Amino acid sequence: MRFFRNAFAAVAVVALGVVGAFAQSENPVVDGILGVTTASASLQVSVSELSFFNFVSKGSEIVSGLTNLTVSVTTFTKSITFTKPKPFENHIAEEVVEVLTEFVAIHQALLRTIIGKKSLASRFFLTAPIAHALRIIENVVDTFALALIALIPTQSNSARSQFEALTVTFTEAIKAYS
Ligand SMILES: *[C@@H]1O[C@H](CO)[C@@H](O)[C@H](O)[C@H]1NC(C)=O
Repeated sequence: MRFFRNAFAAVAVVALGVVGAFAQSENPVVDGILGVTTASASLQVSVSELSFFNFVSKGSEIVSGLTNLTVSVTTFTKSITFTKPKPFENHIAEEVVEVLTEFVAIHQALLRTIIGKKSLASRFFLTAPIAHALRIIENVVDTFALALIALIPTQSNSARSQFEALTVTFTEAIKAYS
């Protein structure tokens, strides 16, 4: 289990957008997924703390947090997109799926926490911007899925079922806010 190894460093790098076109190797992929996982977990904590009493000042963090995650996932996806991807060996692909599984679980927790704030958000007229931010990040995650799956053909079925599970939760969240 290598979850959260180097995660904070990875968050900093992803958040700053300095992940360039590095040479294709294992650790940047694993670390990049860990980075967006940690960022999702930290947003989940912020969203869970929203209440009637702080929503006016902090409710917009749902939108800005999703937008920040969108930027991180987009930057990371660019960095793992290759014209001719060189597939990882299976043992590395397995490790990638392991961190992907963790990312999906945390991102689903984030989406469920956001769903739980639906009535607060409607009271403060924030449902439309949240629905918009959710649709944008869902598209970005779809692109991320394609890029990642191209790198791990031996584990593509496992990766695909993770992304499918995430799509189900995205659909629930978007429906709740539409
Ligand atoms: C989004 O990123 C900006 C700029 O780094 C930061 O100031 C803001 O706090 C972030 N929003 C959330 C909810 O993390």
